[in-house]
Amino acid sequence: MLSSELPTINALRQPSSWAWVEQAIANIDTILLDHSHCERKAAGVALNLICRYPSNAKMVRELTRIAREELEHFEQVNQRLERRNIPLSPLAPPPYGAGLKAQIRPKEPDRFLDSLLISGLIEARSHERLGLLATHCPEPELAKFYHSLMASEARHFGVYWVLADTYFEREIFIQRLNELAVVESELLATLHPEPRIHS
Ligand SMILES: [Fe+2]
Ligand SMILES: [Fe+2]
Repeated sequence: MLSSELPTINALRQPSSWAWVEQAIANIDTILLDHSHCERKAAGVALNLICRYPSNAKMVRELTRIAREELEHFEQVNQRLERRNIPLSPLAPPPYGAGLKAQIRPKEPDRFLDSLLISGLIEARSHERLGLLATHCPEPELAKFYHSLMASEARHFGVYWVLADTYFEREIFIQRLNELAVVESELLATLHPEPRIHS
């Protein structure tokens, strides 16, 4: 499939660079291991929001589903790691996650809004990058696997968007989403030397 045929999410300010694709394809085992960490963290982010805002019924319902799906992805990635004899070892995270987290304003309800929007942007970027791996990975089985995960990551972006729209004025959250999208793209503007999903 050509990358132009893959659906894109227009929340992202800049597309990923070709340099990232080359780095990822040349280090596919490390990318797969980092992917496992990403899926686990995505489940953790959803659970953290549920723990922090347990009375937001709609959010709890949607994020319970996301947490479950991310754990399923985690399990699927881990099965592939096992088949390739790659141990589930720790990896130093790239600066991306901490850089985004630093943007979360401390006071409520800003903290809640920023948390939803940043989670959404990470999902959008994961969707884009899994799509690039689906297109360019030379191993057909792995390429198919990446393709199979893309749709849920796009849907997760949509869920975080709808939740922001549920709890905040649209004008306010769109403006903040645009600000955060600029930062998100800036964090990826220089390729991190270590291959990661978000390097
Ligand atoms: Fe996932
Ligand atoms: Fe996701």
